[in-house]
Amino acid sequence: MAFREYKIGARMFGLAFGSSMFITLYMAAVDISSVSVSQIGLHRQLGFGRAGGFSYEDPFLRGWAKPTQVILAVDPKTGAAIDPVTAYVYEKDVPFPNGIRHPRILGDGPRELSEGRGRIGEADDAVGAVFLTHEVEVNGELVPYIENATATRGWIPAETLAKVPDNKRLQVGKGKIMFVREGCWWCHTLLPEQTQDWQYFGAPPMLGDFNGESPTAFGSDRKAPDLTHVGSRNSSREWMMIHFFNPRLVQPHSIMPRYDYLWGDKDASGNTIDYDGWRSAYNEYAAGKSIVPPDVPVPHKDSEARALIDFVLNLK
Ligand code: HEC
Repeated sequence: MAFREYKIGARMFGLAFGSSMFITLYMAAVDISSVSVSQIGLHRQLGFGRAGGFSYEDPFLRGWAKPTQVILAVDPKTGAAIDPVTAYVYEKDVPFPNGIRHPRILGDGPRELSEGRGRIGEADDAVGAVFLTHEVEVNGELVPYIENATATRGWIPAETLAKVPDNKRLQVGKGKIMFVREGCWWCHTLLPEQTQDWQYFGAPPMLGDFNGESPTAFGSDRKAPDLTHVGSRNSSREWMMIHFFNPRLVQPHSIMPRYDYLWGDKDASGNTIDYDGWRSAYNEYAAGKSIVPPDVPVPHKDSEARALIDFVLNLK
């Protein structure tokens, strides 16, 4: 009797399912390669490395196998002074970011320049590489591209790192892992909304700012300020340090958790951090028995706290 309706229903379901899969899988793939990466997009992916979340190199989210972003003031090969440039140092066996492994996602213009002038095809995992970014005008438009300075200038990763003082190194890749692992995105977004947000939090992101970044960590909920440009509005390393150790030191009613455990055992001078002592001194202060809170220890250069602060200050 009414069997025909089932057949119609099945066909309509097939059509709806098929077109939704077409849109979801195929059309997304077409679109992504037609959007060219922006200079910001290159900066993000080269700074964060291949995966800014779970990866096989770093299954426990400890920030292993990540590049170091440095500000170079000398040519690492000749030792001559140069105008300071931001370089992304991939030591041996640190996995290259997606744009180096799959240049197609850079989009046509940046891909041609990166492969031609930038020689990114010659990047070798077994040696590592030092990458730089540039922007050149092509037909009236600025096109960004990546230079593999290991191929073009003979800059060796280990030698390059040896030329950079500690305060010119940013562990933004490791810091992003901390951001993901610690769940900062439960409260903070990395994507201002198209509302009055832009007046408070700065320019919106553009198409191409996220090519090759994985995951993007946009966040889905907003209980706290958007952090997209936080490094531009507050560049104080000391403020970040105090606020992460215990947000109540700077915002008495803050709902943000403290992240003091990211300091680990030792501070920057190698002294053991006395958490119990710190807490009892802090409790005295919070109870109004002393007027100054205890000093926050400066994080050790290899601590997770240091990486998280580097990441946050680099959000500009
Ligand atoms: C429970 C919600 C919550 C979580 C989780 C949280 N924050 Fe916050 N954060 C806040 C609030 C609220 C503020 C506003 C200032 C304050 O209250 O301390 C803030 C402020 C900040 C600021 C200063 C923002 C500005 O506009 O100057 C930074 C930077 C920051 N948080 C980073 C982080 C990072 C990194 C993490 C993860 C390690 C994190 N937050 C986790 C709620 C949170």
